[in-house]
Order: sequence, then C-alpha cells, then structure tokens
Amino acid sequence: MKALGGVKGFHDIVPPESERFTALEDRLRGVLRSYNYDEIRVPIAERTELFARSLGETTDIVEKEMYTFDDRDGTSLTLRPEGTASVVRAAIAAGLAQRERVAKLYYTGPMFRRERPQRGRSRQFHQIGAELIGRDDAMADAETVVLFADCLTAAGVSTAHIVLNSLGDAACRPAYRAALTAYGEAHVAELCANCRQRLTRNPLRLLDCKEEGCRRVMADAPRVTDHLCDACRAHFDEVKRLLAAADIAFSEDPRLVRGLDYYVRTAFEALAPNLGAQNAVGGGGRYDGLVEALGGPPLAGVGFALGVERLLLAGEASTVDTSPQVSVIPLAAAATLAALQMARRLRLAGVRTELESSGRSVKSAMRRADKLGARFAILVGDDELAAGRATVRDLRAQRDHRLVLAIDAAGAALMDGLHAIAASAPPVGAGGAAGG
Ligand code: HAM
Repeated sequence: MKALGGVKGFHDIVPPESERFTALEDRLRGVLRSYNYDEIRVPIAERTELFARSLGETTDIVEKEMYTFDDRDGTSLTLRPEGTASVVRAAIAAGLAQRERVAKLYYTGPMFRRERPQRGRSRQFHQIGAELIGRDDAMADAETVVLFADCLTAAGVSTAHIVLNSLGDAACRPAYRAALTAYGEAHVAELCANCRQRLTRNPLRLLDCKEEGCRRVMADAPRVTDHLCDACRAHFDEVKRLLAAADIAFSEDPRLVRGLDYYVRTAFEALAPNLGAQNAVGGGGRYDGLVEALGGPPLAGVGFALGVERLLLAGEASTVDTSPQVSVIPLAAAATLAALQMARRLRLAGVRTELESSGRSVKSAMRRADKLGARFAILVGDDELAAGRATVRDLRAQRDHRLVLAIDAAGAALMDGLHAIAASAPPVGAGGAAGG
C-alpha cells in the first residue's frame, strides 16, 4: 500500500534532530529560569477573535496565514499563529496580570502560519517565548533584550545581529501614520495591489511588504524615529543607553516595524547571517495597551519569541549524544530474567541502558552494542549466573572486568559498580568494588 504522506509545511522531528531540539529547549529554559520567569502552557486553539483583536485585522498573519475553522457549534477557532495573545489572555484569566504585580512568563510549543514553505519557514514551527507583563520602564525593555541576547548565546547563535527600533505610541504614531500615508499616496502607482489597500487601512504595513517595487519605494519613506514624541524618544534613548552599557551589540533600523500591530515603542529582531531569506531567528517588542485591549487592566508588556527551527539551523553545529551508556546482553535464555533485572537497576540509577534480546550470538550482540555507541556491555550468561557475576566489557578500552551480579538483593557492590559506570569513571576492575 502507498505510504500516507504528511501535510505540506508540517514536519516530523525525528531522532537525532528531536534530541537536538529538546536539548536546545532545555538550555533556553535554563536561561529563562535564571531570569526568574515561570512557564505557562496555553492551548493551541483559541477563538479567532483573540488574534484578530490583538495582532491586527490588516496584518498578513490575520489576513491570509491563519488556520481558521468552525467548531461544531459554529464558534470560529484558530490554531495559534504566535504565543503573545494567548499568554496575555491566559494571564488575565488567571489573575496574573494585575496592577502592582509583575508577571514573567515563558512558553514553548508549536505555532501555525500558512506561509509558503521554504528553508527556515514552515507552516507548523516552534517558538520559545517570554513575556514580561506589568512593567513600562525602559529598564524592562533593556533587560528583555539582554535576556534575548543571552538566549541567542545559549543557542549557539552568537553571530546573530540584533536590530532595534522604536515604533512610537498612541501619542506620536498618528502623525507618523499620516506622513507615511501621504508618502505612499505620492507613490501609489509603484505600489503592489496589497499595499494600495493597506495605504488607507494600515500604512505601517507598507514597511514590511516583501515586493521588490514596494521595498524600493519604501527605502526613502519617512522614518518613524523622526516622528517620536518626547516621551517615546526619552524611553528609546534610555533603552539604548542601558543596552550599550550592558555590552549588547545592536544596530538601529528605522524600517523595522515587525509584522504584528500590537507593538508600541521598542521593537527588536535578531538576524542570523547564514539563513538566507528567512534570517530572523527571533523578535519581540513592547505591547503596552494589549492587556487592556483584551479586557484586562491597563498594564504594559514587553517580550519576544525565538524560532526553534531557525535557531537550530543557524546554531553552531551541536550534537547530542544519544547512545546508551550500557548494553546488557543475555547470553542464554536462562539469563533473561537476570539481564532484565540488571537493566532495570541501571535504569533506576539513571543509566541509559539498552537491553538486548536473548538468543543472539555474542558476536552480533556486541556488534550492535558497538554500533549503538554503548560505552559498556554487560554480558550475562550461564557461567556468569552460576558464579554470580557478570562480565563488563569496556568497549572503548577493549577490556573486560568482572562485576558481582547480585540478582536477588540490591547488592551495594553492584550499585557501586553501576554508579561508577554511570559516571563513566574508569571501570570497576577485577578485585575492585565489584568484589573481585
Ligand atoms: P514573530 O517575529 O512573528 O514574533 O515570530 C518570532 C520568530 O518565530 C521569528 O523570528 C522566527 O524565528 C519564528 N517564525 C515565525 N514564523 C515562522 C515560520 N513560518 N517558520 C519558522 N519559524 C517562524 C512573534 O510571534 C511575537 N509573538 C513575538 C513577541 C513576543 N513579541 C512580544 N512578545
């Protein structure tokens, strides 16, 4: 029968890639915890309205990239295209977003956008993100960007370059928007059909249009940083001052608007030099007003998300050792139970252990242990059972050692031997802790 294929743009993550994936997530979790963030897990599907209200009706994501469907009761649901909207909604629902309180939340998981798949871009992808809700000071932006930079370093993507911009706020954005509209109208003949529509609905989106013609026109468009009000200017200057003092390398890009409407003031992105067109490994910014727009108190917020697949693509090639530390080999049917118990002891001691099936020849079992990359093979056969010992073969040093088998009791000598193996310390020698 013909094998069933998967869905275009939705990928399996199989070993050893899956191990690299998890190892990276673990490392980033460590960084996030060190910044005192707590994990939040939010659902994969939300009411469509949540994203329409927070990301903006005229963004590419909401207009054409969401996986939206009607639930059986007619409610319109959408597979989350990003995490911020859900996290803010959940923080409000759980009472975490409150005045006089700061919520620091991180999340990982799959996101869904129906984009054209290419290298570094898929329809299901994974993010690891962080949201700081309840702080509006420049220090919060700076600390968030420092955390972002530390995550990049932990991911082995130290070559990524951080770009920074300020998008202004409700006070100064309208004047900038008007300037942008006027500029766009003067060049309307050169704009793509989409941008002509955006011109009246959401002119800021003209700045992230990917069409060559639009990019050319927008290269000379008015800059948001020339239209900041005093408060936004002071905030941006302070963020930059703190980042420079913290030795974070960044450059300013007045054209960085990001593809989501909730941003105000600080916006940032990290670009990896080796990824081609899809070179943004992560991005974020401030979203004061979003908590209130979703029905919560008037709280500020700032955060970011990193794309896990892109981090893995951009990162210095890292390998994760997935080989078992020990392979337990029963040499005879009678030794099966002893081998099973020995393997279990090792596993309970945290040793990654492979248990071979009985009935193979020693040679083929040893070959397999070698192929799996096991450090030690423990051979359990008739002679060994009779003598109450097993042979431990150090596959790296090509040496054999004897180990007390202690099948019936939790023999201390056995456990000592196993711990020595777990620590990959020099193997127990004959006459050593194993009792000779
Ligand atoms: P975003 O820039 O839309 O921001 O996505 C963040 C990262 O997700 C991107 O930089 C990229 O690495 C990855 N990514 C996005 N789309 C794809 C795709 N189709 N395939 C592979 N990777 C992709 C956000 O999502 C905001 N929620 C970030 C944020 C958090 N802002 C404030 N708080």
